[in-house]
Amino acid sequence: MAEVAEKTAAVFPPGEAAAGTPAVKTVELTKRFGRTVALAGLSMTVPRGEVFGFLGPNGAGKTTAVKLLLGLLTPTSGEGWLLGRRVGDLQTRRRIGYLPELFRYQGWLTAAEVLALHCELAPLPRSSWKDEVRTALETVGLTDRANDRVGTFSKGMQQRLGLGAALVGEPELVFLDEPTSALDPVGRHDVREIIRGLAARGTAVFLNSHLLSEVEQVCDRVAVVDHGRVIASGTMDELLGGTAVRVRVTGLTQADKNKLSDFGRVDDEDDQITFTNLNPDRVPDLVAAIVAMGGRVHEVAPRHETLEDRFLQLLADEEKN
Ligand SMILES: Nc1ncnc2c1ncn2[C@@H]1O[C@H](COP(=O)(O)OP(=O)(O)OP(=O)(O)O)[C@@H](O)[C@H]1O
Ligand SMILES: [Mg+2]
Repeated sequence: MAEVAEKTAAVFPPGEAAAGTPAVKTVELTKRFGRTVALAGLSMTVPRGEVFGFLGPNGAGKTTAVKLLLGLLTPTSGEGWLLGRRVGDLQTRRRIGYLPELFRYQGWLTAAEVLALHCELAPLPRSSWKDEVRTALETVGLTDRANDRVGTFSKGMQQRLGLGAALVGEPELVFLDEPTSALDPVGRHDVREIIRGLAARGTAVFLNSHLLSEVEQVCDRVAVVDHGRVIASGTMDELLGGTAVRVRVTGLTQADKNKLSDFGRVDDEDDQITFTNLNPDRVPDLVAAIVAMGGRVHEVAPRHETLEDRFLQLLADEEKN
């Protein structure tokens, strides 16, 4: 009995049974490269079937986290579980799709051959390959190019192909590391639709991105990572609670504008000043303060806080601490 409990503990995080396990869970996951701390104790949970946005500035540790979870890097310390199994479990890898940040496929193969290779690697039964390849090509809009060599593809087409490869075999969890970095606006829109389609069929999506408007449109939940640790996480509603007010004003000096920071964090671009986290009841006081300084108010426009507002604010707060 003790032995069974021990084995179970090795597979599932404490307190979690197999069926209810999250798609991803990490506890104090840490990775150092020499003196560089890429991940500094990452603890987070991604529920099943959700689209999870993993955000952070360049070098924050997003790709490192994904590579650790996929078993492509070994952690310095800490633990991770995918679909209830410890990271590195080979059976679990079959249920996972991955589009790497730096993608490159065999230039001498055709698109259909690359996808068939991924079916073989999965491995999927040979009888299913034809359908799998056709579906993947259709999903990513490459049906017309199925028999062209990948070496003749544009970067965006190669990224589409990589996405197709990540979807082969209907994985339960898909990691997409900056999946639209090479795509045009139509391609980005298509990827959003593909991600929504995955979520609709119950696939969990772990999306690394710094395209915040994209994340805002498609993710159920996000975590913001900076210097290798999570600085904020929650559902989109939890993260974007505040309101912002944009004021178009002329006639103020920089010193005047600085004094207005009492009304909320100030974002100042030309004659537009945006106040985030401003209680709407204080708008009349704000206008009065601007007028008292000799400023001329041309427009006061409330707007919902965007993920970008929140992201910049979180990083600015981190800088201060
Ligand atoms: N193989 C490696 N050897 C040494 N340092 C590395 C290696 N891989 C990553 N790092 C370092 O780890 C830190 C995190 O890098 P990572 O690639 O995870 O960032 P990221 O959040 O994915 O950034 P980006 O948005 O630019 O893709 C950086 O300081 C990076 O220089
Ligand atoms: Mg990266």
